[in-house]
Amino acid sequence: MSKISAAITAVGSYLPDFVLTNEILETMVDTNDEWITSRTGIKERRILKDPNKGTSFMAIEAAKELLKKGNIDPTEIDMVIVATATPDMPVASTAVYTASQIGAVNAFAYDLVAACSSFLYGISTAAKYIESGRYKKVLLIGADKMSSIIDYTDRATCIIFGDGAGAVLFEPNQEGLGVQDEYLRSDGVGREFLKIDAGGSIRPPSKETVDNNEHYVFQDGRTVFKFAVSNMADVSAKIMERNELSNDDVDFLIAHQANKRIIDATANRMGLDQAKVLMNIQRYGNTTSATLPLLMSDYENQLKKGDNIVLAAFGGGFTWGSIYLKWAYNS
Ligand code: UT7
Repeated sequence: MSKISAAITAVGSYLPDFVLTNEILETMVDTNDEWITSRTGIKERRILKDPNKGTSFMAIEAAKELLKKGNIDPTEIDMVIVATATPDMPVASTAVYTASQIGAVNAFAYDLVAACSSFLYGISTAAKYIESGRYKKVLLIGADKMSSIIDYTDRATCIIFGDGAGAVLFEPNQEGLGVQDEYLRSDGVGREFLKIDAGGSIRPPSKETVDNNEHYVFQDGRTVFKFAVSNMADVSAKIMERNELSNDDVDFLIAHQANKRIIDATANRMGLDQAKVLMNIQRYGNTTSATLPLLMSDYENQLKKGDNIVLAAFGGGFTWGSIYLKWAYNS
């Protein structure tokens, strides 16, 4: 019997309706469209406005779209992973609730938390369950309500992030398609540069932490940028080298959408033309765990069976890495 590989066989996505444009941000903080566009490539992002809805709402919607498009019976799903940096609540798993709400009654579920690399690491995890031969349908969702942890008076962070969700289904493949290789890295040196100080076990929430805005994201953007630029390019070049892929062999780069300049630097290092670099940062900003599946969903029609795709991400922690996969279907 040929080796089982883990292939993506369906995708779905959800974006909230409210569009937060650079022009609206100009009225909220001291910034301007020219600065945001030239420094990040972002024009607008989506925000989940309903205060009673959390990350699970978007995860559920993305999963439902996938199930409908792929005509998939939710009772056949073995496992649900929600990759997120903004779970609905501490402790009670967002993935478990999501699985129940979509009717995946035979699945077990858990959250996977690795900042902006959550979805990339999630691909690695989902693939292992499939490759083991024990599980046949693994649903991986990347979802984040970043607006719940962003300080909209801090111009250094509020211009970057947006809300959204994307979902992919992994199934066994015996034609050699799906995940081929991965190179995943992490380094605790990043802990001080991108974090939320309060709300965890080191500094539980208190009136003082809330008064000091310590429950919001803090980012030393310049330092994170430097690490992201070199590390995302390094791992992408490494995965090409290791798999003897030339720039002609790579059909698409699907990279975490944090900053257009970081994506461009990675594409340059790989020697890729712009046409091969999938981009939607201008419309959604940085949706953290949702960037990679949102790209797959937006560009699904262009992805063809057998295409060589390099995925790359960089995020808080630091966490980063690249994955080489062969796309498994024509939509
Ligand atoms: O997804 C997880 C990983 N995260 C990332 O990969 C993000 C990495 N970092 C970045 O993308 C960039 O560092 C930012 C987009 C966050 C910032 O861009 P930058 O080119 O690194 O700007 P900077 O932080 O070095 O700031 C340059 C100047 C500063 O003014 P001075 O000190 O030079 O006078 C900032 O105060 O720009 C100022 N500035 C702004 N000006 C207008 C910072 N934010 C803004 C703003 N509008 N929103």
